[in-house]
Amino acid sequence: MKFFVDTADIDAIRELHALGMVDGVTTNPSLILKSGRDIHEVTKEICDLVDGPVSAEVIALDYDSMVREGSKLAEIADNIAIKVPLTWDGLKACKHFTDHGQMVNVTLCFSANQALLAAKAGATFISPFIGRLDDLNLDGMELIADIRQIYDNYGFETQILAASIRNANHMSDAAKIGADVATAPPAVIHAMANHVLTDKGLDAFVADAKKAGIKIV
Ligand code: E4P
Repeated sequence: MKFFVDTADIDAIRELHALGMVDGVTTNPSLILKSGRDIHEVTKEICDLVDGPVSAEVIALDYDSMVREGSKLAEIADNIAIKVPLTWDGLKACKHFTDHGQMVNVTLCFSANQALLAAKAGATFISPFIGRLDDLNLDGMELIADIRQIYDNYGFETQILAASIRNANHMSDAAKIGADVATAPPAVIHAMANHVLTDKGLDAFVADAKKAGIKIV
């Protein structure tokens, strides 16, 4: 499973990138706001650092404006994936961009039918939002499984990009189901390394090493 980092925080991306953990980056207007940076400036910086797809989201709601705005975003770098919302106009924009050889990430997907439409429109990535479904006591992971089954049934090449990931369990569950990509905040990727038994085991080894007189060389 590929790891995308769901942030516009360049330092956090740089740190994970140095460890080989970054296959791509996703941003959205809320993450750009959090970064306090200009969207074009920060997106360019991310694209210079990361070779993989970097999603930059349009804010336009109608087809013509989405095409105009998305085309401007695509000029930032070759590895831009234009992010469009899963609306009818968004699907039209998706088709336009993929017909022109541009990567497209269709975002705000909350149903299997929406994912089916995005695949038909040639989306490079479909972004089902796990956490926001879980917030409503629905099952975000079930949606990932449904989309996996549908895409496999018909050989759709659209990549399932599990999004709105809130915890480390979401990452392993998405991997078990076979999501092609998961995009997670840096803190979640860090949390994947944690286990209480690792900490407990380490405490015991450190204590015993001290008793045994083992020194760090
Ligand atoms: C990624 O592409 C999405 O914009 C992001 O994962 C949304 O996550 P959130 O539901 O935590 O805002």
